[in-house]
Amino acid sequence: ITVCNVAEAMLAWYDRNARDLPWRIPPGDDTPPDPYRVWLSEVMLQQTTVAAVREYFLRFTTRWPTVSDLAAAPDADVMGEWAGLGYYARARNLLKCARVVADRHGGTFPDTYDRLLALPGIGPYTAAAMSAIAFGRPETVLDGNVERVMARLYELHTPLPAAKPVLHAYATALTPRNRPGDYAQAVMDLGATICTPKSPACGICPLRDRCAARLAGNAAQLPKKTPK
Ligand code: ADE
Repeated sequence: ITVCNVAEAMLAWYDRNARDLPWRIPPGDDTPPDPYRVWLSEVMLQQTTVAAVREYFLRFTTRWPTVSDLAAAPDADVMGEWAGLGYYARARNLLKCARVVADRHGGTFPDTYDRLLALPGIGPYTAAAMSAIAFGRPETVLDGNVERVMARLYELHTPLPAAKPVLHAYATALTPRNRPGDYAQAVMDLGATICTPKSPACGICPLRDRCAARLAGNAAQLPKKTPK
């Protein structure tokens, strides 16, 4: 595949097709991202769909517009607002993290991958997503959507989870130095709307001419998974 043009094709596609989501700065709008909103959305989106997160995100940010507001909230208020999102350990970690950022970082999120990773409840995925989306750093953002797009683009038949390190290397090779946050969100949108697990819409994919699986006719069979 032509590595150097993948990011460009993805960004051009994103400029026309980005989903309108409340935590997102639309492409072309130069408002700086708010790390608090990026963090909150990425934590909420970890085990929950975009459709479900939308209203929770709006309620949280209306009630607590900054990380310091959230840090000052009583536990019960935050747990109550979280009710319905599930995975309640996430909500407890959310509060713990907000309080560390408020108390030890003066209410400002650190702006590097390593320092983000040191915060409670922030793992490699969230640290990378925040680095790219909130701080414009070219970190590799890898979630299930990105893994599927990479497995197909490179027609990798190695089953998950063994394929993870290879998929990570592919994703790293493709991450652009310019607009890494838009690029990360472009791959997520592609995975959610076109490069879907079943019946991917290869005919309208911006990568259709360079996707090895599409050319081989086996996109829908990838990625493979080791049976449990
Ligand atoms: N899933 C996780 N993070 C996302 C984001 N920033 N946009 C869309 N889907 C996502």
